[in-house]
Amino acid sequence: MHSRRQFLTRSAQAAVALTLARHQAFASAAQKSGLADVYKEDFLLGTALSTHTLAEKNTQVLDLVAREFNAITAENCMKWGVLEPEPGQWQWGPADEFVNYGQEHNMAVVGHTLVWHSQAPLWLFKDEQGNPISKAALQERVEQHINRIMGRYKGKIHTWDVVNEAVDEDKGWRQTGFYKILGPDYMEQIFRLAHAADPNAHLIYNDYNMHDPHKRAFLVDVFKGYRQREVPIHGVGMQTHVGLDYPDLKEFENSMKAYIDLGLALHMTEMEVDVLPVAWEFTGAEISTGFEYSDQLNPYADGLPDKVQQQLTDRYVQMFELFLKYRENIARVTLWGTSDAESWKNNFPVRGRSNYPLLFDRDWQAKPAYHALKKLKTEA
Ligand code: XIL
Repeated sequence: MHSRRQFLTRSAQAAVALTLARHQAFASAAQKSGLADVYKEDFLLGTALSTHTLAEKNTQVLDLVAREFNAITAENCMKWGVLEPEPGQWQWGPADEFVNYGQEHNMAVVGHTLVWHSQAPLWLFKDEQGNPISKAALQERVEQHINRIMGRYKGKIHTWDVVNEAVDEDKGWRQTGFYKILGPDYMEQIFRLAHAADPNAHLIYNDYNMHDPHKRAFLVDVFKGYRQREVPIHGVGMQTHVGLDYPDLKEFENSMKAYIDLGLALHMTEMEVDVLPVAWEFTGAEISTGFEYSDQLNPYADGLPDKVQQQLTDRYVQMFELFLKYRENIARVTLWGTSDAESWKNNFPVRGRSNYPLLFDRDWQAKPAYHALKKLKTEA
């Protein structure tokens, strides 16, 4: 049994971690005038940066990102299969460039992600002969991977999405190669390895559909066990891939409260608002899911009607009102991209649609939702 005092001590530790997670923003926000500046006393405001956006070196775009946001997440370049497509063939270029950009602009740099079943290299679960890998060998690979990446960016990347999407809504632990080979306590092992690799890093578990009551109940149980066994975890990433009318914000808030009660810092890690019709009732973000294109599923190919633009704005405001209510416990709100042109939602879960989920339009102009979020703070 843990006493209330012990619990408060842990909450206090989480609060320190939260303060640290915000620290960088305060340092840099003074000379900026974008949206992140408006929210600087509430939480970090971030965006995902793609390898393409960095490689293009369009200074107008890169200046806009640096002005509007004070945190960045690597959209793809730090995923295992992208970093090390063949054993030992490390592709550091884009990841280094991403980290340098963040440092140059005084942004909080988020590492995404150390262990995830998607975008993992095909060779990972096989030995040199092409047979299924042993537990000991996979443990070794995971440990080396974590040490190498976290070691390279020590002191530069402060927050890590340590494990991504390890839980299925209905069935508990997702039956990934990591789970099957490393065993049911694999996530706990990985958090311990990450903490050993960089004891100063803020370590979070990241997942989608975090409002789901089954997923919440399962994770609350897991995290309570972590508290008892002193597993080093500091925060929870709620991906926040939402739509105009899902998820139920009451359930979303219930999940926020449940994680806060465990002394964990909240990060909204991959937010966008999908405005398109839901295909086959699918509202998840498991990236291997796909549905066939039809014109019916792509109603705004020629532009977004005013009515839907307004719904999008209202939804952003509604969600940010919720975030402000819990600002004491939220370290960061990150959008999954800046301009609608670059959103993965144009191709997921149906390829080739025109979606409008972000705060800047296809010409990188601020949308009504952006102005509404500014107003929400300045007129409060
Ligand atoms: C997405 C990227 O945005 C796409 O470019 C890529 O093709 C697939 O992955 N959950 C995550 C993110 O944690 O890494 C995913 O990003 C979106 C769902």
